[in-house]
This record gives sequence, structure tokens and C-alpha cells, in this order.
Amino acid sequence: MASETPRDGRPTKPLLRVLDGEQVWPPPLWLMRQAGRYLPEYREVRARAGDFVTLCTTPEMAAEVTLQPIRRYGFDASILFSDILMVPWAMGQPLRFAEGEGPLLEPVRDAAAIGALRATGVAERAASIMETVRRVRAGLDAEAPRTALIGFAGSPFTVACYMVEGRGSKDFAAPRAMAHADPALFGRLIRMLTEATADYLVAQAEAGAEALMLFDSWAGLLPPAQFRRWVIEPSASLVRLLRKRLPTMPLIGFPRLAGPMLAEYAQRVGVQAVGMDTAMDPRWAAAAVADDMALQGNLDPQALIAGGPALEVEARAILGAMRGRPFIFNLGHGIEKTTPPEHVSALVRVVRSG
Ligand code: CP3
Repeated sequence: MASETPRDGRPTKPLLRVLDGEQVWPPPLWLMRQAGRYLPEYREVRARAGDFVTLCTTPEMAAEVTLQPIRRYGFDASILFSDILMVPWAMGQPLRFAEGEGPLLEPVRDAAAIGALRATGVAERAASIMETVRRVRAGLDAEAPRTALIGFAGSPFTVACYMVEGRGSKDFAAPRAMAHADPALFGRLIRMLTEATADYLVAQAEAGAEALMLFDSWAGLLPPAQFRRWVIEPSASLVRLLRKRLPTMPLIGFPRLAGPMLAEYAQRVGVQAVGMDTAMDPRWAAAAVADDMALQGNLDPQALIAGGPALEVEARAILGAMRGRPFIFNLGHGIEKTTPPEHVSALVRVVRSG
């Protein structure tokens, strides 16, 4: 495995340099959900896999789709192709993805259901995902030595939302009600997830991931006191667990729709970078977050669908706001399946021209 760190201990890959606090310009670029249904080559493998969980647990196919957007666009980061719901799957909660419905899980809503979950041994049961990480890392070392490999997991709160609700939702009423009505029970689930997620992420790092990202897609549903209790505190505990075993691993946190709570999140969780969602004003974030902490984001995925001058104007506004600090260009949320692939090429040209 080629080393990403030269003898002076500083990384050479642009994305890792930014996570180390350096200003790199033009900034490194990757897109959330960059492997996905907008790419015909993804749809071909997806059809061959049949169902989504099979795609995530078959290393040959998962590694192939992870590398597809790197071959096409030469992004600065590759993100493991998997899903945040593979942790509950590895804890023993039945999971399937139904066409047109998104993820479906058997909801866990009482002590018996939560007690039946297995918080230990998750990395072993997810061994096929670790094999994907090893294959992707070997592929990047051979084909794209400047592209960094990002491993990821959902944050405890967002994953708990899906586990309790049992499916996607606009408001995740069941888990949010449980958090208020029975905080001891919800807290037990959060603690199990924190431990399981730490093991799962350490295993990804051992398999070759060079940075780790925490997706907290539903953090923004919570009022401030609940945000501190269920987003900031468990994320900080997770980071402490990771730090014991991975003292120098760069971490990116993405508390989506956190609004002004982003500042406290950035200060207290212990990550090296924070993601900005589509609704965040990058100038506000630049003022609210420490100058040496990297920011990542936040082009509107709809601007990428539109393309043309709208795309260029929006991308340049973000670049202008982020100039002079460590920054990683990305979208503010995952790429949409209707995005024309040539608009992504146009975006790469705009960002790489600085
Ligand atoms: O970014 C990447 O390219 C890496 C792969 C990745 C996927 N999901 C693949 C995926 C990552 C990082 C995720 C994270 C994820 N998964 C999140 C957090 C980010 C976010 O979007 O808020 C969440 C909430 C999930 C749960 C999930 N997975 C949902 C709600 C859905 C259905 C929505 C949809 O687009 O169909 C998924 C399915 C999923 N995960 C797809 C992909 C490419 C689409 C499934 C398919 O190809 O059929």
C-alpha cells in the first residue's frame, strides 16, 4: 500500500492537506453520493446486483462503483460505496431497500427490541465492507494516487432515527418522541450505536480509509437542548473512542440543517472539518467556525441539475466566500439522480480554474 504521508509527516494528497489545516487552492473537490444513479455505469452494476444490500456487501461490485466517478471525473476523494444503514444491518436489524420507497427496517421501539440488537462484532459482520475498502484503496494506489479514500458512517442520532422510525420520514416523529418520553431507552440505543460505529469506523481505517466522515442528516430536526444531548454529546463520545485507536485520523462531521448550532458542533465534537448543507450561508460559517478548521460544501444539487451560468455563478460565490481558509468543495446534499453527467464535468472545470 503506497503511503500518503512523506517523511516529514505532512500528507501530500490535496484533500488530506486541507484536513491537516492547510489552504490548498484551487480547493480539492468531491461530491456526496458521487457514485449513484445519475451515472449509466452505476445503473448497469446496480441492475446486475439486483438489490441494494447485495451491492453494498459484494466487494467486487461495491469497489467498482466506488471507483467509477474517479475514473470519469478525477475527484480528489473517493467515498466508500455503502450506506449509513449497514450499521443497523450488522447489528442484526433486518433491512431492505424497496423500489421507490427507500430503506425499510423492522422498527425498534421498546427495550426488548433494542436489547436484541448486537452492539459488538459489527466490524466482523461487516467484513465484506472492509474488503471493499481494501480493494478501493489498492485501486486508488494504482490508478489515482492523489485521490484520498474517505470511509464513513451515520452519526448515532441519524441512524437511531431510521432504526426507530423503520423508514425514511420528513420529521422522524417516533424517534423524536421517544427521545423526550423515554430518554433512558433512547440513550441506551444511542450508546450502543456509538460503540458499534466506533468499531466499524476503526475497521475501515485499518482496511485503508484515510479520512472518516460522520453523516448526521437529521440533526437539524432538534431544538438546541436536544441537539446538544443527542447530536453533540454522542458525536463527541464517538470521536473520543476513535481518538483512542486512531490518534491522527482526520474526521469530517456533517450535521445537516444545524443552522447556528454548527458553531457549537464545530467547537465541541472534535472533528477537523465540518460540512455545510445547502441552506448554510458560507460567509456565516466562515465567521462562526475557527479559521484553521476546514469547511466542506455546499453547492445546491439543483444548481448542478440546471447547469450553465446558474451553476457557474453559484459555484463561484462559494469559492469567493471560502478563499483564504482550508476548504473542500462539495455539494450541500447528495447529488440527484436526474443530474446530467456533463454538468458535473462543467463543475469540475469551474472549481479547478479557481
Ligand atoms: O456518497 C457516496 O457516494 C457514498 C455512498 C452513500 C450512499 N448513502 C449510497 C446510497 C452514502 C455516503 C450514503 C449515506 C446515507 N444513506 C445517508 C446520509 C446522507 C444523506 O443523504 O442524507 C442517508 C440518510 C442514507 C439512507 C438512505 N440510503 C436513504 C434514505 C436512501 C434512499 C434514498 C434514495 O436516494 O433512494 C438510501 C439509498 C442509497 N444509498 C442510494 C445510494 C447510491 C440509492 C439506492 C439505489 O441506487 O437504488
